[in-house]
Amino acid sequence: MSVQPAQTEKLPSDFLWGFATASFQIEGSTNADGRGKSWWDDFAKLPGKTLDGRDGDVATDSYNRWEDDLDLLVSYGVNSYRFSLAWSRIVPLGGRNDPVNEAGIQWYSNLIDGLLKRGITPFVTLYHWDLPQALYDRYGGWLGREIVEDYVNYAKICFQRFGDRVKFWLTHNEPWCVSVLGHGRGVFAPGRSSDRTRSPEGDSSTEPWIVGHNLILAHAHACKLYREEFKASQGGTIGITLNGDMALPYDDSPENIAAAQHALDVAIGWFADPIYLGDYPEYMKEMLGDRLPRFTPEERAVVLGSSEFYGMNTYTTNLCKAGGDDEFQGKVEYTFTRPDGTQLGTQAHCAWLQDYPEGFRALLNYLYKRYSKPIYVTENGFAVKDENTMPLEQALADHDRVQYFKGNTAAILAAVNEDGVDIRSYFAWSLLDNFEWADGYVTRFGLTYVDYDTQERYPKDSAKFVTQWFKEHVPSA
Ligand code: NOJ
Repeated sequence: MSVQPAQTEKLPSDFLWGFATASFQIEGSTNADGRGKSWWDDFAKLPGKTLDGRDGDVATDSYNRWEDDLDLLVSYGVNSYRFSLAWSRIVPLGGRNDPVNEAGIQWYSNLIDGLLKRGITPFVTLYHWDLPQALYDRYGGWLGREIVEDYVNYAKICFQRFGDRVKFWLTHNEPWCVSVLGHGRGVFAPGRSSDRTRSPEGDSSTEPWIVGHNLILAHAHACKLYREEFKASQGGTIGITLNGDMALPYDDSPENIAAAQHALDVAIGWFADPIYLGDYPEYMKEMLGDRLPRFTPEERAVVLGSSEFYGMNTYTTNLCKAGGDDEFQGKVEYTFTRPDGTQLGTQAHCAWLQDYPEGFRALLNYLYKRYSKPIYVTENGFAVKDENTMPLEQALADHDRVQYFKGNTAAILAAVNEDGVDIRSYFAWSLLDNFEWADGYVTRFGLTYVDYDTQERYPKDSAKFVTQWFKEHVPSA
């Protein structure tokens, strides 16, 4: 598919656009104002867990610099901002019988008021990977069924305290990553894996699927609560945001065509099929047998239809070949190299990402057709190769990131206007360079450069491009 729409095409006037961040990646101040420990606090300090050995204690210092960051958003002209709440600032020990921390609530309340005062719509993620450590210590975090009630209690507090002003809620960010990277590959907190060189505990053959199941149930029960007790009076909407990259067959052999669908089944269908269609994909049931938990009829009734929209985080496209034994990819091998030896697109700093806007457009169409929900693009972004070691001036001229956003904004426009896909938002990842999890600060996804010695912020060319593009394409902007 081409991604070159006519210049006159526009997005709907209520289209939300802006930048996204997450609490642990930007806030720092991990001991401030009664915040409880999250499981990333200590995990990041373990030897070898981040590429540069650095942790999230300071990050981009946004806990202290939040007003400057909001002014930065204003300078970019956004109409919305996606951020996440740190559960352990609000309920430091996490559980339903644990005390609530008013200072944490006040901090987010100020942030929300600061956004509204600036005419920016808050788009809020309840859980972006920073679980209260106490819940892991008590019952294994997402491995324990108790988490569902604790999560719903936390969500309720957020709806009660912020729902008068927050109208867009995301329950979870990228549950595949929590399940697989945290409990399968062991590269994210809590670092569980069957590979004993990575972790002394864990069982990758069962735990990721149990974690995924509990994440889905927690999500669904929080949505149910929102609809029963808050939606009518607060008038907001709630859903989940899933990661998922386009999967294309490596060539047109039947086994590779099937492989691409298997990749989508596990990367996306694992969570999206139960939520939008009512059950796990058949392929997952076959592949995993009784290692995959099943929904009871009561659970299914809560899960099906729980998300009111499709929240989409996407970065790249993979070419898929049948083979290998990686269950987390659906026993499919990924490559960016086409059969003729050429690369799919421009390579990013991280190995898993190449720029391929045709794949983004194809994924928008695939998701809309399969799940029939309005799509909120909640993350999309690019890390320029070697940006971490470049002089500032060179890093600000982030040509490859500009190209990425050029391609993907054109894809959005074409998907809306030519393909008829109902797309309601676009959030670029990320407002700032920040703590990129296992990559530490080595991989930079920001459209704003952060000098980590001074915490100065510098707009990159990509920020200027995105600002200008949305100004031209969203009528109300
Ligand atoms: C997805 C995650 O939600 C975010 O936390 C992360 O920084 C970006 N992808 C880039 O890897």
